[in-house]
Amino acid sequence: MNLARQIEQYLPRQLLELVKDISGQAAKRGQRVYLVGGVVRDLLLGYPNFDLDLVVEGDAVKLAQQVAETSQAKLLAHHRFGTAKLKYENFTLDLATARREIYARPGALPAVTPGTLKDDLIRRDFSINAMAISLAANDYGELVDPYQGKNDLERRLIRILHPESFSDDATRILRAVRYEQRLCFELETQTAELLKRDTPMLDTISGDRIRHELELIFKEKQPEFVINRLAELGVLPRINPFLKSDGWIAEKFDRARRLKKPTQLPSLYFCLLIYSFSERDIEQFLARLNISAKLSRAMRDTLRLKTRLPFLDKSSLKPSEIYYLLREYEPVAIQANAIASDPSMVHRHLQLFLTKLRYVRTSLDGEELKRLGISAGPEMGKVLQVLHRAKLDGEVRTRADEKKLALSLKELDFPTDPELTLE
Ligand code: CTP
Repeated sequence: MNLARQIEQYLPRQLLELVKDISGQAAKRGQRVYLVGGVVRDLLLGYPNFDLDLVVEGDAVKLAQQVAETSQAKLLAHHRFGTAKLKYENFTLDLATARREIYARPGALPAVTPGTLKDDLIRRDFSINAMAISLAANDYGELVDPYQGKNDLERRLIRILHPESFSDDATRILRAVRYEQRLCFELETQTAELLKRDTPMLDTISGDRIRHELELIFKEKQPEFVINRLAELGVLPRINPFLKSDGWIAEKFDRARRLKKPTQLPSLYFCLLIYSFSERDIEQFLARLNISAKLSRAMRDTLRLKTRLPFLDKSSLKPSEIYYLLREYEPVAIQANAIASDPSMVHRHLQLFLTKLRYVRTSLDGEELKRLGISAGPEMGKVLQVLHRAKLDGEVRTRADEKKLALSLKELDFPTDPELTLE
């Protein structure tokens, strides 16, 4: 099958020119270049994907070095892995030396040696990701599909290439379900059986790799489908015994998506995923997945705040009281609790903090207070706090109001309220 016409239509002109140039330079070096993996799958499905992976028969790093010398591209080379990245103004291209992989033991990183295109395709996760398209002049556009990936695309199946695939690399268990749900495919029968058989092999995978797969799941349009399916297949509890998925997760993930900027969304998904955990259970999860300090703080805060929500369930709370109850928590943890709580007083108070109170600042700063005769140090700290509270509660609005209040405090030698916290 020849896909030359589809490539020409599908890829932006500028990108196509770059790829053809690389292939031309490779030919002069006696090397062949192929488009491979996700882009081939998506091209056959008609989905946009301009994340191009190129496989080179022969040394990809040397080829990339030559291309970088004759173009504007920036080069990032990994000699050890035989891979290189070419960064152009608008695009990035990944080049890899075609390779053979041998897994010495389950979960270990494979031993890698240079190989042919066919070697490179058989080492891949699923038949639909194990296709290539030639970019060489003599057979430009020719589909290379030794493992019937196109047939599986037509049958809408996720199929591994050999029975030990999941035990070699158990991250493929998570990847299989991610593709299945993204593409609305099904796991091929034997693949589904082997996936269940090899789910315990997830224990052989490092926390960083499992977390990375969860992060990829959270980049999907509807990660809740993947999470639900992982639960159905019995995979979730293998990552952590307290993880579960039900209608609750689906509804809350959907709500999170409507609220949150895409960059912050993954953290929010993490906080919602563990919302049913106890404060003690979370530690095991954080350690297993080697979660970053910042996200760990947000996840711990989520559960800590959950147990303290009853403090917010009072209509008599002043805005300043709400502020001091919530200011110590990570905003994403507050957001998670707002999404988790049904419309109620608590929900309204959380929203008020997120949308308004946390941004309230006094108009006067330390310098201006000094000019009013208030000395730096604890006295000024207290004045600023009283001004801030008054501003939160709408008792002062203008700079003049703030000045008046500051001066009256100076005269009073004020005692301030003890600070309110949830502790
Ligand atoms: N791959 C693999 N086993 C893995 C990870 C990746 O075989 N554990 C192979 C697959 O052939 C995949 C390619 O490496 O197509 C590139 O991986 P990645 O960028 O993660 O996937 P894409 O196919 O580009 O898919 P996506 O659309 O999710 O980006």
